[in-house]
Amino acid sequence: MRLLLLGSGGREHALAWKISQSPKIEKLYIAPGNAGTGTVGENVDLKADDFEGVKSFVINNSVDMVVVGPEDPLVKGVYDFFKNDSELRDIPVIGPSKQGAVLEGSKDFAKQFMIRHNIPTAAYKSFNGTNIEEGIQFLETLNPPYVLKADGLCAGKGVLILPTLEEAKTEFRNMLGGMFGNASATVVVEEFLSGIECSVFVLTDGKNYKILPEAKDYKRIGEGDTGLNTGGMGSVSPVPFADEAWMKKVEERIIRPTVDGLAADGIDYKGFIFFGLIKVDKKYSCADAGDPMVIEYNVRMGDPETESVMLRLKSDIVDLFEGVAAGNLDTKTVEFDPRSVVCVMMVSGGYPQAYDKGFEITGIEDVNDSVVFHAGTALKDGKVVTSGGRVIAVSSYGANKDEALEKSFREASKISFEKKYFRRDIGKDL
Ligand code: AMP
Ligand code: GLY
Repeated sequence: MRLLLLGSGGREHALAWKISQSPKIEKLYIAPGNAGTGTVGENVDLKADDFEGVKSFVINNSVDMVVVGPEDPLVKGVYDFFKNDSELRDIPVIGPSKQGAVLEGSKDFAKQFMIRHNIPTAAYKSFNGTNIEEGIQFLETLNPPYVLKADGLCAGKGVLILPTLEEAKTEFRNMLGGMFGNASATVVVEEFLSGIECSVFVLTDGKNYKILPEAKDYKRIGEGDTGLNTGGMGSVSPVPFADEAWMKKVEERIIRPTVDGLAADGIDYKGFIFFGLIKVDKKYSCADAGDPMVIEYNVRMGDPETESVMLRLKSDIVDLFEGVAAGNLDTKTVEFDPRSVVCVMMVSGGYPQAYDKGFEITGIEDVNDSVVFHAGTALKDGKVVTSGGRVIAVSSYGANKDEALEKSFREASKISFEKKYFRRDIGKDL
């Protein structure tokens, strides 16, 4: 099979690493990829949302399947672009239709979907420019902290959690006033859920689904979960509290109703679903203490969760993709590696605020006990240099998470670039 993977981050390097191990793969292309994906496949100088460019490439290079890494091309309708083109129609795209991608592209749509299908989630109301005062009144009925969400995509920055009513009212007006442009023309105001988070992933063919290894990601820049939010500073899989009994509830109350709900609503969905879950630590109207509730849906894999999850997936991922495309995922098996994996993300000093790029990265070849995934790297004059805030993910196996962390931490120390930073406490809270 000749497969094209769209995207360029650490998630895509991890997917490419896994895809390239499949005996079914004759050729793997990554568009646009990064310095790391170029070591497991061939990078193609094409933007993931340049659909016409993707079309020419797919036809000229006899690509048999397209796998979509990030949400952007999905929300822009890459699946539908293929389905509606007579030359591309028969080439499967792993990723939902534009309608399915709205689960991530609109928080208001996702909330309506969950309410319609009885899936446990925080109570909420949505507001826009026509009912600002009602929104203010709704905020007055809630307890702090206050959760405000821009309806549309904001590169992970559209959620504000505010400690006081005054701040919540001010930011609510700011959001509707264009703080996130059109993405916050509608704002979801919801009840705060307290508990511990976990990411659960499935692959679905629209009817059947397979649950992949779960993971927990660490979003804050500082150790002990302090400081600003980032794209993710590390991940761990498995998650000890996501035991068999809890995952059974997740499957019965959340996964199955979601897949069935998509089908019942006539939404074409063949791809990954990422359930951002929380194990709540007290009772809510639709869940008891200890139960799972949904914080959000994403229509792709998580980053940096993928950099842990791919190490724990023993099965051939391309075989699973074929099951998604053919609609016979129920005939496939998914096997997990029982070991723990911890991923530590090395970032540029200053990130998530301003940081410098273009620093040479050395020592990657000295890493021998971990898997290195490139996130924000580029090749310049034959050297690997930093090109983003999140630079390199170091993922390791261990008999338990402490052993895996120790290994990632030790191996990450071998990699150098100016102003490098990483958290040394990934998984320690579990
Ligand atoms: P989202 O983009 O919806 O994942 O939100 C980003 C982060 O905000 C989540 O990962 C949670 O940590 C937090 N969050 C979102 N909604 C809630 C909520 N209702 N209660 C508590 N925390 C939340
Ligand atoms: N790690 C969270 C995300 O990918 O959205």
